[in-house]
Amino acid sequence: MDKNYYITTPIYYPSAKPHMGHAYSSIAADFFARFKRIDGFNVHFLTGTDEHGLKIQRAAEKKNIDPQSFCNEISQTFRDLSKTLNLSNTDFIRTTEDRHKKSVQYLWSQLEKNDDIYLSKYSGWYSVSDEAFYSEEEISEKNNIKICTASRSPVEWIDEESYFFRLSKWQEKLLEYYELNPGFISPKSRKNEVISFVQSGLKDLSISRKAFSWGIKVPNNPDHVIYVWLDALTNYISALNYPDTKDELFKNYWPASVHLIGKDILRFHAVYWPAFLMAAKIPLPKKIYGHGWILSGDEKMSKSKGNILNPLDIIETYGLDQLRYYLIKEVSFGNDGNISQDRLEDCINSDLANNYGNLCQRVTAFAEKNCSSKVPENKNFKEDDLLMLNKFTDNLSTIRIEIDNQNINFYINFIVSALFEANKYFNDQEPWKKKDDKERLDTIVYTSLEMIRKISFMLYPIIPYSIEKALKIFNLKPNAIDFESIGKHNFLKSGDMINKIDILFKKIEKKDD
Ligand code: MSP
Repeated sequence: MDKNYYITTPIYYPSAKPHMGHAYSSIAADFFARFKRIDGFNVHFLTGTDEHGLKIQRAAEKKNIDPQSFCNEISQTFRDLSKTLNLSNTDFIRTTEDRHKKSVQYLWSQLEKNDDIYLSKYSGWYSVSDEAFYSEEEISEKNNIKICTASRSPVEWIDEESYFFRLSKWQEKLLEYYELNPGFISPKSRKNEVISFVQSGLKDLSISRKAFSWGIKVPNNPDHVIYVWLDALTNYISALNYPDTKDELFKNYWPASVHLIGKDILRFHAVYWPAFLMAAKIPLPKKIYGHGWILSGDEKMSKSKGNILNPLDIIETYGLDQLRYYLIKEVSFGNDGNISQDRLEDCINSDLANNYGNLCQRVTAFAEKNCSSKVPENKNFKEDDLLMLNKFTDNLSTIRIEIDNQNINFYINFIVSALFEANKYFNDQEPWKKKDDKERLDTIVYTSLEMIRKISFMLYPIIPYSIEKALKIFNLKPNAIDFESIGKHNFLKSGDMINKIDILFKKIEKKDD
């Protein structure tokens, strides 16, 4: 079985500071990366910044700074954000790095060699905000301004010499590929969208610009810079040292397990990218997963709409793990989700503080008093105990399958119901009434501690800092976390010390309480 796992986020435009939408893609990717790691996979997790193109050039001009210095500054804020979000990425790529430029130029030369590129003239619409070419049918008018109907961003007319990629040539091959690889585009609803776009007829794609210079130069024709999406998409392999396909990174991690992206950039990933790869005879990534948008008042959050929620503000007010938990739990993965402070506070209070935090506190306090702060013996599990513990054993393979389907909702619902059941179990078993039946009392405490351990292991990919603290109960460090072991009933060793820990999550006093 292939034990290597390669997951990527989109590389972000450093045209402005990061916002919640960016944080969302990254946190979701981090969740998968961490899960796969605790499940014994070698994980390569890539994120980075997409620094070329007219959008960046204009943003730099507006600030009167040269584009490179402009990118250096803002790319750094994205790098800082990955630390702030506690991402476990193993690389951070910038498209202005040499390793990337070389790779893009090599890919171009392969496309050229295989007769997939020709020089002609582009006359048509272009959106700088999306860095995308649109056909006449995709354009409408709003307040006398031409916009792309789907993305609502303004478009401008371009008339210039351009290199083209023979995208039309790949239409049938792409459709065939989607058919033969049903999981390639996920979720399903997104797949249909892509298929109908491709079926409607692919035109050759303009892949160079002459009117500005902020980009990677076309080999042998420095008057042109390479289209920023061809440049950007290549990051997924340039970070693996393509074209050195014998390099360990490339050998181990390509094709990628999953490119996690927002649904807004599906066309680039599910149509253009596979076509470029097919043309260059490079294997295709295993999956493109398009998640939904974080909405702010029902609109996609974005700089141009002025409705950006700053993740840093939320982290400062509520804490990082609180934000991570909230985004993972409340935004149904794959669909759009509205951010609400009210729901965030509810999540913190009911799930984190009450259900998880209290369970940890109650059981450890009880074990301290009644089991001399030690893991008690577990001589005789009864049906009630096994019912609790087996929930995990019985679902190990289902959880793995659901994770490979990017079904975060299944994962989190499983945890929430396990928490509910564990609390109920502790209440119903009433160990405080079993002081004259020490064997039974011990078994209840053991079972409860095992439940805390299992749930904590599963929570680790979502709230890693807090779980690091929680594991101090058992004197465990995160590197002891092994997903497989949640199927075991006797991971904790009788006689080992149990430590009391500080409150993990403070309850929020809600204004309307
Ligand atoms: N640079 C391109 C991606 C190139 S990948 C080879 C780009 N950058 S972006 O900064 O505009 O956005 C990147 C991603 O951020 C989106 O695809 C999406 O994953 C995420 N989001 C940006 N705004 C978002 C929301 N409001 N909600 C959720 N995610 C969104 O596109």
